[in-house]
Amino acid sequence: MLVLGIETSCDETGLALYRGSQADPWALDPKNGIVAEMLHSQVDLHATYGGVVPELASRDHIRKITPLLNELLAKANCDLNDLDGIAYTSGPGLLGALLVGATFGRSLAWSLGIPAIGVHHMEGHLLAALLAPATNAVAPPQLPFTALLVSGGHTQLLNAHAIGRYELLGESLDDAAGEAFDKAAQMLGLGYPGGPEISRLAATGDPSRFRFPRPMTDRPGLDFSFSGLKTFTRNTIAEHQPLSSIDRADIACAFEEAVVDTLLIKCRRALAVTAHQDLVIAGGVSANNRLRERLAAKLDAQVHYPPLALCTDNGAMIAYAGWHRLLAGEQEPLAVVTKARWPLTELTPPAASL
Ligand code: KG4
Ligand code: ZN
Repeated sequence: MLVLGIETSCDETGLALYRGSQADPWALDPKNGIVAEMLHSQVDLHATYGGVVPELASRDHIRKITPLLNELLAKANCDLNDLDGIAYTSGPGLLGALLVGATFGRSLAWSLGIPAIGVHHMEGHLLAALLAPATNAVAPPQLPFTALLVSGGHTQLLNAHAIGRYELLGESLDDAAGEAFDKAAQMLGLGYPGGPEISRLAATGDPSRFRFPRPMTDRPGLDFSFSGLKTFTRNTIAEHQPLSSIDRADIACAFEEAVVDTLLIKCRRALAVTAHQDLVIAGGVSANNRLRERLAAKLDAQVHYPPLALCTDNGAMIAYAGWHRLLAGEQEPLAVVTKARWPLTELTPPAASL
């Protein structure tokens, strides 16, 4: 089954073709897997604003989606008639941006007479670690596993009982981890997105100079809060004006250590609750090297994450998550449904549509 995946929930237009023939995602078959991918990032478009401008994002998705699809098909040496199904992100995300991919995907599927499926963006991120493990030195994660989803909009700890059956263990009460990285980067005069920029600068900083707080780790529970850390960062910057390049690197380092340590402490607690052997980290912040290193070194569990290119938004993760559902016979009616907010816990396992 050849599935076209379309991701337009935020500031990346991602299209990919995934071919799968069986329900066992880690059966190694060279004919299966990601056939081709195209990704257009809007980073330059939004850079001057320090964050994503929703209306500009929607318009750019409209401009890029058709040429990207044509390039994708050419790259894969196939045409529209080879498609067996289309999966598109239907939420959560920016409503206007979601509508571009969803209307495009739904109508294309209708015109071809093939099934379409709306995919939960965070389920896409979560399953990306199954689609292509970052290293084949470790066996792929087996469900059930514990998951840390860390992106620009979400910070969640989940018990993934099965595909489509997710129990929320804890989440951020305010800013998401990626958002905190982006805001701290902005305060330090770095570019957008802030995560990679902070990470680069932090590598040259002195971890012993500042100690930033590890929010909500002094009390029980699995929820997060990053807004206090943001204020602490702002105050530290204000106290050290004018900032030298050494100050900036040391602050970036202290900030990254605080976020990573906080995530580590909560992951350890979550694993104590679930008693799982596997932890999957996914979403943009799972690209963070320091986070990967620290979790792998300090947790009594096997840590899994997607390869770098599949950590941030992409079409392949949507094609793959959609494939699981299309394979089970699930499909959307003709109406185009998009949801700006959509709890992952509302999902159900893949099942045939009535
Ligand atoms: O998953 P994603 O691409 O989009 C959302 O669904 O939000 O995540 C984007 C977020 C941004 O906040 C970005 O700063 C963060 O992921 N990010 C990182 C790194 N790479 C991306 N954060 C920390 N370290 C990184 N290396
Ligand atoms: Zn995302």
